[in-house]
Amino acid sequence: MVRVSLWWGIAFAVNPRIEVVQGDIVAVEVDAVVNAANPALRGGGGVDGAIHRAAGPALAEAASAFAPLAAGEAVATPAFALEPRIRWVIHTVGPVWRGGGEGEPELLRECYRNSLAVAEELGCRSVAFPAISTGIYGYPAVRAAEIAVDSVASHDGAAEWVVLCAFDAATAALYRNRLAGRERS
Ligand code: APR
Repeated sequence: MVRVSLWWGIAFAVNPRIEVVQGDIVAVEVDAVVNAANPALRGGGGVDGAIHRAAGPALAEAASAFAPLAAGEAVATPAFALEPRIRWVIHTVGPVWRGGGEGEPELLRECYRNSLAVAEELGCRSVAFPAISTGIYGYPAVRAAEIAVDSVASHDGAAEWVVLCAFDAATAALYRNRLAGRERS
């Protein structure tokens, strides 16, 4: 049994292809979208509001069963009205930016790592991320883009395709620059 699971792991551990798209995350066609939630998991503004509006009220009911969710953690619910195009919503809570000395970078990395791990446990091959923490939670966009790209690019798992969904052109450019920088080095 040990050998079987070892080979299984090797056969399906890949570095995902990373694609940058600009626009509304609920329009992306992937197995799972990640939501930049708050600990109560009942919806809010920003991307959280957009996902809850599109998925319908059942999303808040299902997600809030996991509350309170700590920063860096991730949980999954069905995607309700977003199905069958999107099957799962992965809810993660990004760190609130407090100057960078309170573990914010590591917590943000954990959001990406844990969300991918949860998606993979569900058999997802494609996952879309918003720019977690860079809106209401105030994380500086450049630093957050570096963490997003580096966390996803260094991930070895079953996810084959990861979309970094930027809402604005400036964030999309940050992602593309970081990806290009990694390819050059
Ligand atoms: N699709 C993709 N990205 C979006 C969308 C959307 N529909 N709407 C907003 N964004 C982008 C923002 O431009 C920002 O770059 O998502 C990024 C994250 O911003 P927020 O949604 O404000 O998330 P965050 O900074 O993590 O703050 C979380 O906001 O609404 C609340 O309930 C949420 O309290 C939590 C807090």
